[in-house]
Parts: sequence; structure tokens; C-alpha cells
Amino acid sequence: MAANFVRAPRYAHIVGWGKALPERVLTNSDLEAIVDTSDAWIRERTGIRERRIAGEHDTTVSLGFAAARQALEVADVLPAEIDLIIVATSTPEHIFPSSASLIQDALGATAAGAFDLSAACTGFIYALSMAAQAIISGSITTALVIGSETMSRLVNWQDRGTCILFGDGAGAVVLRASDIPGGILANVLHSDGSGRDLLNAPLVGSPDLGLRGNGEAAPFKMTMNGQEVFRFATRVIKESILEALEKAGLTLADVDWVIPHQANERIIARAAKSLDLPMERFIMNLDQYGNTSAASIPIAMAEAAERGDLRPNDTVVLVAFGAGLAWGATVLTWGVTPPPEQTRLNRYRREMAYFLARQRSNLVRTLRRLLSLLQLSPLRNVLRRLDHEEHTPTGGNNRGPAQ
Ligand code: UT7
Repeated sequence: MAANFVRAPRYAHIVGWGKALPERVLTNSDLEAIVDTSDAWIRERTGIRERRIAGEHDTTVSLGFAAARQALEVADVLPAEIDLIIVATSTPEHIFPSSASLIQDALGATAAGAFDLSAACTGFIYALSMAAQAIISGSITTALVIGSETMSRLVNWQDRGTCILFGDGAGAVVLRASDIPGGILANVLHSDGSGRDLLNAPLVGSPDLGLRGNGEAAPFKMTMNGQEVFRFATRVIKESILEALEKAGLTLADVDWVIPHQANERIIARAAKSLDLPMERFIMNLDQYGNTSAASIPIAMAEAAERGDLRPNDTVVLVAFGAGLAWGATVLTWGVTPPPEQTRLNRYRREMAYFLARQRSNLVRTLRRLLSLLQLSPLRNVLRRLDHEEHTPTGGNNRGPAQ
């Protein structure tokens, strides 16, 4: 006989946030030395003044890891408590393994599943939606959602129509289950692959790369039809915000803040006008960082939270659009679950976890290599046991939903 019980509703709240930006600043004036452009043109047509560019040691994983550490700090969550890590990115370090797996390893989040999600500039909205649904359904309790990009390694630095737009960086949030109503209220996700040629960056396996007879691939090349993407963006921002609000049972009058994907100030201004919402309600940082693709919304969110702009019970709408074409929006209530007071002990435990994660990873990889060389089965058992112990969280997965 089926059990007859009603499960209490669960909600997914953002309880931690963080960001990481490379130190190197590339101004519009610097770009004048690279392509035929001007500071005045870029400011006027896009609103961008400067962007950050990954240094030699910055990668999608290192930036994502740094943003994730901050988010865990704010949420006072231990790596062992994370059930799921999703990294939204168009610039993963490898086709496989995923950047999420590498961040999972660096964090020592040994109980977490991890995967990358590809939805270009809309990636963070897709990832947040997936993680929130997993929490609301009861299948997980704590998720880390990261948007991380090194777009500077993908753009064509000879194409002034695109290279002036993009920048590098990462943002992250911690999502946690709670029985307090609020958090992620509604998501809408859309895609129209017929627009594949409007914004495109082929990868190995793509016929667009035009494999040469000798098997050598042509270099990656991002292409964009700026005007078409511009028109598409202004239309879908309005449509998806209204659709997501309706799904959440709210109206524009309820909206305190919109955090849009930071692509072009004119796109946002036009969408704001068509929605009849003042620009002051739109959180913007495009002038400083340019378009950081899937990272732009979590970076802007982390900054707004740090400034104290986002206040408990504020209704916040996230909206993004980009290659795919893909677009979407999220409606959420901010800060119903305030981050707990951080304990010094937990901070220490997190630092230890990161340190041990490095040692563990090196040790396990060295042992694995050694074993495959020696084919020693007793040692294999030791390795298996080590792996098993690492996957049994000791850091208190029993914390339960945030209150
Ligand atoms: O994450 C989503 C990703 N993408 C977007 O959101 C991009 C959406 N589109 C846009 O932001 C804009 O279309 C751009 C900023 C890319 C371009 O602005 P635009 O006002 O649409 O310019 P345009 O493409 O219509 O070009 C106007 C002129 C052209 O010169 P001619 O043909 O009129 O002589 C371009 O060659 O501006 C020229 N131009 C530039 N001039 C100086 C294009 N790029 C540049 C440049 N500097 N960087």
C-alpha cells in the first residue's frame, strides 16, 4: 500500500554569494591599439569603459573556485555539505573533465555531484533553475551554482565588432533548502536553435570549423550578427520578465530589482523603457567588466549584495539572453534566510578542507598512476578505501535545511 503522507513544501534560498575578477584591466583606450576603434564609440554604443582580462594563471576553474570560496564563506557552508555543483560556462578548460569536477576537487566537496552547463550567456539562469528544482523536489539540500568565463581566450581579437564587448570573471551562489517560503519563485527557459548562426563559436566536432584534409582544425572563431542579437535581446528581455512574473503570481509593480545579463547598456535601456521600469531598478556593472557571459549576473548580484542594495524580502528578477539562441528569467525573493553568523571554527574547517583537497587530489592521482604501473591489487583496495572515506562527509551533512 502506498504511504499516505504530505511532504512539507521546500524552498531554495540564495544564502551565499561571491565573485572573482582578474586583476588585469583592459580599457577602451588600450583597445584602440589593438583594433580600429575608439573609446568614444565603445562608450556610446555599448556603455563599456573597461573589462578584466585573465592573466597567465587565471582560468575558468581558478576564477570559479575563488568565487565559490567567497560564496561558501558568506553562507558559512562547508565543502562537504555541498550536494551539487553546476558551472555555467562557454569557456571550459577541457571538453572533459568538466570545470565543475575540477572545482569540486579543489574545494574538497567530496559528497557533491558536478557538471558543466552550456547555455552561453543564459547559462547562469539555466543552472540556477536546475539547482533550485533539485532542492525543491527534495533530492538535494545544498547546491553551488557558478558562472565562470575566460571569454578573452575565445574572442577574435581582430574583430572589432566582438572583441570590445567581452571580459573575464566568475560569480557564484550557494542555494539551500528551507521551509521558509521564498527564494527561487519561478523560472522560464527558452531556446531557438534556428538562430545558431547569429552568435557562434564552433568547437572540435563542428562542421563549421572546416576540418582540413590533414585533420588540422581551423582556429576557433567567434562570430556575431550584432544588430540581429540586439533586436532579439530587447524583445526577449521584456517577454521573459513578464512571463516569469506571471508564473510567480507577481506583477511589474512588485519588482524591486532587475539584474540583467550585462551585454549592452542600450539593450537594457530599451527594454527598461518598453517595460516602463526606471533604469535605477536595473543593477548594472557593465561599464567596469563588459560582457562576462554566464558570469555577468552572479557578479552583479554579488556586488549588489555586498553594497547592501538587495534587502530582505526584495523581489528580484534575473534575465539573460544570448547564443543558442537561448534566453530566460528567474524571479526570486532575496534574503528571506539571512546568512548565519560565521563561526571561526567553520572558517578554519573550510581552509583545512581546501588544503586537504589539494593533498588528497595529488596523492590519489599519484597512487592511481603508480598502481596502473605496478598492477598491485592489495594497494588498489587501499585506494578504494581512501576514496570511499573521502566520499563519506564528516563535515556535518546533517545540518539540514537552513532556517
Ligand atoms: O551576450 C549577448 C551577446 N551579444 C550582444 O548582446 C550584442 C548585441 N549587439 C550589440 O551590442 C551591438 O550591435 C554592437 C555593440 C555589437 C554593435 O553596435 P551597433 O550600433 O549595432 O553597430 P553596427 O554593427 O550597426 O555598426 C555601425 C558601424 C559600422 O560601420 P559602418 O558600416 O557604418 O561604416 C561598423 O563597422 O560601427 C562600426 N563598428 C565600429 N566602429 C568602431 C563596429 N564595431 C566598431 C567598433 N569601433 N568597435
